[in-house]
Amino acid sequence: MKGRLIVLEGGEGAGKSTHAQFVREWLERSGRRVVLTREPGGTPLAEAIRALVLRGWDEGIDGTTELLLMFAARAAHLQALVRPALDAGQDVVCDRFVDATYAYQGAGRGLREKDIDLLAGLVLKRLRPDLVIVLDIDPAVGAQRVQGRGASNRFDAEALAFQARVRKAYLRRARREPKRYAVIDADRSREAVQADVAHALERLK
Ligand code: TMP
Repeated sequence: MKGRLIVLEGGEGAGKSTHAQFVREWLERSGRRVVLTREPGGTPLAEAIRALVLRGWDEGIDGTTELLLMFAARAAHLQALVRPALDAGQDVVCDRFVDATYAYQGAGRGLREKDIDLLAGLVLKRLRPDLVIVLDIDPAVGAQRVQGRGASNRFDAEALAFQARVRKAYLRRARREPKRYAVIDADRSREAVQADVAHALERLK
């Protein structure tokens, strides 16, 4: 049996990393072998690209450069880690994937969806996540959480209006394909969110 690709998405401070761990444990308890990874990143080359794309540059970094780096990291990640794992029957749990590109570079930066479609066709070929869990949070609440943990990258620093466009894009994409997406209100206790995440994972059986 081929492995399944399960993706966690959401705005800054939605709790993806915590819940990605939970997804891994849940799948392992149900007898699956699991690889937990993230984008941009997940392999040494893709992590090197991550460092380039998340840091600030005095010369600036335009949307197209950002878009191409995201897909360069994704191509390396798919080739060296994701596809081999899926082919070997392992489930892959990925903290962000291509929906993030539509949300951040598309809705956030204003790049054209059809340009992203083109790169997605080139890099993903026929690969689609089996399930995308969107952890939905009000950007103002998310920003507070991010501040609390002190981490910061170029995207954390974007204005609330940018984060609001990102959020809307995730919700729009989820509405288009309700069978492959689960939108979960992330502004609740960890236990309440986890119960909904577990419910969404039941669909994979
Ligand atoms: P995170 O892993 O801490 O969420 O940080 C990754 C950042 O990269 C996050 O702010 C969203 C951004 N990102 C994009 O802009 N486009 C993408 O395609 C991906 C995967 C992430």
